[in-house]
Amino acid sequence: METVLSGIRSTGNLHLGNYYGAVRNFVRMQHANNCFFFIADYHSLTTHPKSGDFHTNVRQVLIEYLAAGLNPEISTLYIQSDVPEIFELYLILNMLAYKGELERTASFKEKARKQPDNINAGLLTYPVLMAADILIHRADKVPVGKDQEQHLEMTRKYVRRFNSLYETDFFKEPEPYNFGNALIKIPGLDGTGKMGKSEGNGVFLADEPEIIRKKIMKAVTDAGPTIPNSDPPESVKNLFTIMEIVSKPDTLQFFREQYANCTIRYGDLKKQLAQDIIEVIEPIGKRIQELSLDKEYVASVAKMGAEKARASASKTLSEVRKIIGVKSL
Ligand code: TRP
Repeated sequence: METVLSGIRSTGNLHLGNYYGAVRNFVRMQHANNCFFFIADYHSLTTHPKSGDFHTNVRQVLIEYLAAGLNPEISTLYIQSDVPEIFELYLILNMLAYKGELERTASFKEKARKQPDNINAGLLTYPVLMAADILIHRADKVPVGKDQEQHLEMTRKYVRRFNSLYETDFFKEPEPYNFGNALIKIPGLDGTGKMGKSEGNGVFLADEPEIIRKKIMKAVTDAGPTIPNSDPPESVKNLFTIMEIVSKPDTLQFFREQYANCTIRYGDLKKQLAQDIIEVIEPIGKRIQELSLDKEYVASVAKMGAEKARASASKTLSEVRKIIGVKSL
């Protein structure tokens, strides 16, 4: 079996985009692979250094992972900060990471632009910590979105450097895995790019049906088509895209035709879309509520995950120490 590994930063609740773009695919991969899925809580300190709700966020993402169908008996589900071996490997990999290269990383440049008062070294070495996350379990495949592919390329570079420096073939180069045709991008509700956690344009897995309805009814549209068979503006296209994913094909067809012959009423489209989203999210939302009440179970999942992850991580780390020549006197 191949080892699959992926992580999500605990910077907010999971939304429909996370679900269709990542978590639902994780759920599908569980049976055919040796899977590690984790919550990258220390990674979130690079941009959210003092979130008073650090612990709450971590717990919430774990609950949402479970509610969406990740099975802690089958996959290894853990919290990054529970596995200290990752941070020792991070330190070791830092010696193979060059400052100039890190400074040229797209994500670093973007974050540095966004938070000019806090361009911390953690931000700079973010890709190194991510490489440690991946290599600590010697993962074969890493399901990630486009925006993370450069980080994975850097991981592959560290593997080549490590292997060549220590004359070993211990690490394998992990492959990015983007689900091919199954990769789905969910746009936001505000007429612009993709759905995000912080952009305020998303529907969250934890949203109550009433909230979902309100959000969809408020989604950006335009005054409506006046010329038959015209191309919809991006905001309306986005609603059709979401509909394509959550609704039945004939529902989509029906509204597309109405758009084409200029009889469409966005209110009707939105009502239907909200209903179809609720059908997907409501059962997950219910499980989120149940799990939120079961603190003991959630804690036991985290504990079991930490044990499994540490068993695998400590094996890798002790090999690495041996290869480098680290020994206790
Ligand atoms: N950087 C990833 C993101 O923001 C999260 C992440 C951290 C990750 N470590 C990882 C993803 C290791 C895959 C593998 O989405």
